[in-house]
Amino acid sequence: MLEIENLEVTFSARGQDVQAVRGLSLAVAPGESYGIVGESGSGKSTVLRAICGLAPVTGGQIVLGGRPLPRRRDAAFYRHVQMVFQDPYASLHPRHTVDAVLSEPLAIQGFDDRDARIARALDEVGLGAGFRFRYPHQLSGGQRQRVAVARALILEPELVLLDEPTSALDASIQAEVLNLLDRLRHERGLTYVLVSHDLAVVSHMCDRLLVMQHGQAVEELTRADLRARAATTDYTRRLLEASEGYRPETQP
Ligand SMILES: Nc1ncnc2c1ncn2[C@@H]1O[C@H](COP(=O)(O)OP(=O)(O)OP(=O)(O)O)[C@@H](O)[C@H]1O
Ligand SMILES: [Mg+2]
Repeated sequence: MLEIENLEVTFSARGQDVQAVRGLSLAVAPGESYGIVGESGSGKSTVLRAICGLAPVTGGQIVLGGRPLPRRRDAAFYRHVQMVFQDPYASLHPRHTVDAVLSEPLAIQGFDDRDARIARALDEVGLGAGFRFRYPHQLSGGQRQRVAVARALILEPELVLLDEPTSALDASIQAEVLNLLDRLRHERGLTYVLVSHDLAVVSHMCDRLLVMQHGQAVEELTRADLRARAATTDYTRRLLEASEGYRPETQP
């Protein structure tokens, strides 16, 4: 589904270069749920942004469905790949109703059965028709994130990139949204790449995960490795220890 080979991302700000991703490679199979973890600033979000064409890629290549991605992502790309961001407050326009948020991608892609698709999308994320004409400030954080999930899924993408999709939410709401994402993945055979600093979230949601540090891949673990705490590097062991709430016996 997705192959990243030797990815390099370098930000240049005021004559200073920041190498946010250095020679990173990973491969995600169709239907897999793949996690990326690492300390703050390790380059996790930058990898997702690079896939979407939103980061300055200075080397390597990204292959989607067997084809290297062109420099610019076109509308067709967003039929296949969608992203959910961390902060549901920031990712929804304050003056756009839920209806407008969900209509926009459909309009861009030229769908004409918009009413039916919006109704179905709201239903699928557990928000009924009553939410359709509400504004973001009339929704709870969890409801907003459900709208963001509906927006991502309304075009029926195959690959969904999730950047800390629940870290802005309360623990109980977090579990609800994670369960929703998990259910939708199974129902639709979606492929996920999920970034989280929370190893409990990743071990609940992901089949495999990549540990990143300073823009590089440190090691790759399976869920079983993670649950057995079978990390091979000190860095990952420290992450495991530091991950508050990491209790293999109390999965969300
Ligand atoms: N637009 C930008 N311009 C300059 N530097 C950037 C930019 N975006 C990210 N960086 C730098 O790239 C590095 C990786 O950032 P990134 O946001 O990918 O980290 P992260 O692993 O997602 O961290 P967090 O867990 O805090 O979200 C950081 O050093 C950051 O300061
Ligand atoms: Mg980030």
